[in-house]
Amino acid sequence: MEIFLDSVNLKEINELKEFIDGITTNPSLIAKSGRKDKYEDLIGEICSVVKGSVSVEVVANNHEDMIEEGLRLAEIAGNIVVKLPLTREGLISCKKLWTQHKIPVNITLCFSPGQALLAAKAGACFISPFVGRLDDIGYDGLSLVEDICTIYSNYGFDTKILVASVRSPTHVIEAARLGADSITVPAKVLKQLLNHPLTNQGLAIFEKDWSTKQ
Ligand code: G3P
Repeated sequence: MEIFLDSVNLKEINELKEFIDGITTNPSLIAKSGRKDKYEDLIGEICSVVKGSVSVEVVANNHEDMIEEGLRLAEIAGNIVVKLPLTREGLISCKKLWTQHKIPVNITLCFSPGQALLAAKAGACFISPFVGRLDDIGYDGLSLVEDICTIYSNYGFDTKILVASVRSPTHVIEAARLGADSITVPAKVLKQLLNHPLTNQGLAIFEKDWSTKQ
């Protein structure tokens, strides 16, 4: 399973880069970073630190502008994946960017299996179902992941399922149980996966015993 970090924070990225296969970003994260004005520079810095793919979302809202923006983003570095919203315009742009330019696309803001089916048919490299935001409004985000796994496997689609809007280690484990190809997690969840209180406690006991017993 590929694990991406959902972050544009270079300090966080440097701290956790050994544990991740790439980065996902979104316009909210970039806006909050305070580097929105020259965000291409920020993305370039991230791409030079991280070996795997770096998903960057377009902000245009019609397919002509989305394609132009996607082509511009793809020039920043060889590991850019263009992120497009699951809208009519986003899917038209996805098909063109992939078939005409071989630029990989991550289709984001997926909330239904039908949307995921259309994204695969449009040639998306990744589909990003948002589990946490579905849970937030009383739906079951992980059942969406399960449905997409079944549909993609029924037809042998190459589109990778990239579970997004992750709130807890349980989301990660359940997505892995279902066989999702990839997941993107905030730094807090990655640290929760890494740490366990019994590991720290056990280590403290070993260290104490080692230093006191003959
Ligand atoms: O980057 C997309 C997604 O992971 C956003 O998550 O927590 O804003 O719902 P969240």
